[in-house]
Amino acid sequence: MNQSRMPIVEALEHFINKQPLSYHVPGHKNGLAMLDSFPSAMKRFLAYDLTELSGLDDLHSPEGCIMEAEALLADLYRTKKSYLLINGSTVGNLTMIMAACEEGDTVFVQRNCHKSILHALQIAKLAPVFLEPEYDTYLQAAGGVNLETVRMAYRQYPKAKALILTYPTYYGGAESIEDIIAEAKSHHSLVLVDEAHGPHFIAGGMMPASSLTMGADVVVHSAHKVLPAMTMGSYLHVNSDRVSVSRLEFYLQALQSSSPSYPIMASLDMARAYAASFTKEDQTKTLEARGRTISLFKAKGLEVVSPRDPMKLIIRKTGYSGFELQQELEAAGIFTELADPVQVLCTLPLLKAGEIEYMKAAEEKFADLSIPDKDHAENSHSMKVTHKKVSTLSLTYQEQSKCSKETISLKEAAGRIAAEMVIPYPPGIPLIMSGERLTEETIGALEKLMDAGTHFHGGRLLDEKKITVFSV
Ligand SMILES: Cc1ncc(COP(=O)(O)O)c(C=O)c1O
Repeated sequence: MNQSRMPIVEALEHFINKQPLSYHVPGHKNGLAMLDSFPSAMKRFLAYDLTELSGLDDLHSPEGCIMEAEALLADLYRTKKSYLLINGSTVGNLTMIMAACEEGDTVFVQRNCHKSILHALQIAKLAPVFLEPEYDTYLQAAGGVNLETVRMAYRQYPKAKALILTYPTYYGGAESIEDIIAEAKSHHSLVLVDEAHGPHFIAGGMMPASSLTMGADVVVHSAHKVLPAMTMGSYLHVNSDRVSVSRLEFYLQALQSSSPSYPIMASLDMARAYAASFTKEDQTKTLEARGRTISLFKAKGLEVVSPRDPMKLIIRKTGYSGFELQQELEAAGIFTELADPVQVLCTLPLLKAGEIEYMKAAEEKFADLSIPDKDHAENSHSMKVTHKKVSTLSLTYQEQSKCSKETISLKEAAGRIAAEMVIPYPPGIPLIMSGERLTEETIGALEKLMDAGTHFHGGRLLDEKKITVFSV
């Protein structure tokens, strides 16, 4: 197929060129219903914010430009069927799990997963068995699960319906999961992969392999994370006949807006064409930019750690927490992906040969960066919290819905069962899950994160050093 085509973009341009008069939603009327004080760039942008008009197709029943765009997507990623998502990998994960599993199913779940996976387990009332990831001492973050852990889980739960993996990790850990997928398939489990951080793995030799090539059944990509798609633009890929397409489509309709954003869909079309256009020369350019970025950080006295995913870099400096380091970078106009108590994570650009603006801007910003040395020998915090290799919730989701709750001081919480999720954000990976028994170690880690200034989702009363638990 001609991957340079962008059917949604073409249809929008064609429509806009007709200078149409709007008697339809949205209310901004193609950017004409505006105050003078609104930014003019926004007005130009809103001309693209159209709706299901003649020639613009319908995401929920595509037969025109959106159908063509999805066919091009499936062709690029070599899948059975691929979908554009306008509500992020969040909706992709919810759909993938709710479509593949039914109430009460036992599923294996890599514990360091995004909260959307846990929400899906809870909404679908599944029986999750959590698999503890290996701690990656180089990246100082949780990595993938190992084969032995998966085998141990199958010895205890041989009939697990699905294995739900996160690959790569937020921090760029991308050890191959081929043997784990093969193990799951030998037990007739479905393999569902949250590959939110790996849509660019299609771009070629320098990238780790996609789980699509390792035999995963369904894979979710946040196109917006590394490809040039707008925020909330994601892809859902069906890679086998083992998951019902009609169930997937039902949940996509149920969970996504009936007024999907055309700018997001157009940007997904562009992101696919961008990835498809990636040549060896472009790879060289991207790696050169990466190398230069490493040199710029090192020249400022920073330690640089390179994960397997070349689009991620981790930055540390002795005496600085990640949060403090992030503030120093921001003072020089350099904004990063996230900070944790130990380090800062950067998402690098996927650049085409000939692109010069990005690195020019980088050189200018780094010229203003100066981070004073500190005396402390080492950073005081660690992110490591260990759980059993294979564990279940202490209360099932069904039991949780029937139990009453109370709020208690963190000091008294060890041994009690959490009634809320506590999620350091970003990265959005729960430290505490609803229904799991709290340990001294988890509470200690939570207190350290709070002291270090972490931002949380959940944990409504953490400011008062309190947490909600079940009254059991
Ligand atoms: C591993 C992982 N999965 C899923 C998501 C959700 O993706 P989105 O922001 O596209 O909804 C995130 C978001 O950061 C993530 O890190």
